[in-house]
Amino acid sequence: MTFPASRPRRLRATPALRRMARETALAADDLIYPLFVVHGQGVRRPISSMPGICQLSVDQAVAEAQEAASLGIPAVILFGVPAVKDPLGSENFSDQGIIQQATRGLKTALPDLVVIVDLCLCEYTDHGHCGVLKDAGAMLRTPAADPEGCWRNGDFQIDNDATLEVLARAAVTYARAGADLIAPSGMMDGMVGTIRAALDAAGCQHVGILSYAIKYASAFYGPFREAAEGAPKFGDRKTHQMDPANSREALRELALDVAEGADMIMVKPALAYLDVIRSVRESCHLPVVAYNVSGEYSMVKAAASHGWLDEQKIALEILTAIKRAGADLIVTYHARDAAKWLSAASR
Ligand code: PBG
Repeated sequence: MTFPASRPRRLRATPALRRMARETALAADDLIYPLFVVHGQGVRRPISSMPGICQLSVDQAVAEAQEAASLGIPAVILFGVPAVKDPLGSENFSDQGIIQQATRGLKTALPDLVVIVDLCLCEYTDHGHCGVLKDAGAMLRTPAADPEGCWRNGDFQIDNDATLEVLARAAVTYARAGADLIAPSGMMDGMVGTIRAALDAAGCQHVGILSYAIKYASAFYGPFREAAEGAPKFGDRKTHQMDPANSREALRELALDVAEGADMIMVKPALAYLDVIRSVRESCHLPVVAYNVSGEYSMVKAAASHGWLDEQKIALEILTAIKRAGADLIVTYHARDAAKWLSAASR
């Protein structure tokens, strides 16, 4: 007998054999393109930490979505930058809000495009937090009203259940504007069930929920906070977003959102959390979406701009790896470029 008998290299010998042995195929169908929408006309405001990505007024967002759709990308996810911010984030649930206008504009121009709307408070509140804050001053004056005992001068606490009311109101306005999927990203307990009930009560049973079920308190969101102008003015997001050290907890979040009626499950970020994507994929039957977040994009763009990495090869390798880990769909700022590269490769 000659050694070795088993030679994996046989199936790598030619491009055609490699194509036959390939387990994961990335396609434009898998991609969701994020759009940051601002008030105004003809606005294209570049985001310095995310080369190639701009804040766009509705007309420009429609043009960019048209291009994405023509490349075979089935969906966009919208983030709104409001005209004014206040403690409740009221523009979030106004029919004239930026997201509601953008959704109507996109669905009118591109009825077949799937419009997903990110739903959170952080872009809309003046304090930049993902929820309504409990009144710290009042809590300090009456410590008895502070059952958790976590009030200190300068501390703050997000009122989970008051936030749910705001999310429910905003979700209904998004649905009425024509959104296909509502994507709550604020990691409030009970958000999926509350939004589902509100949509159903408003006659919007057809509108689905893509839950950011598993979202870590990650430093990879840095560039996004410039793009969406949603950085917290003080404190951090560690009381609602997950600890990057945890993975079993992801399955607890998953089970809750499935039970509350989520239609798709998001894991975020993606690249440093491939193990989590894999375990979520193995633990549920819903489509799993991974968010290749702003910091992951900016790292590639920065290294590529120095000539240290090949942008196209790196981006496609990352996206393929996220899919191989178990994601069905990927939200990515590379979406338009990736769709172009994929179609050039198939020609
Ligand atoms: C919250 C939200 C964030 C992102 C998507 N939705 C920011 C955060 O939680 O701090 C981050 C996306 C990215 O980094 O690309 N509305």
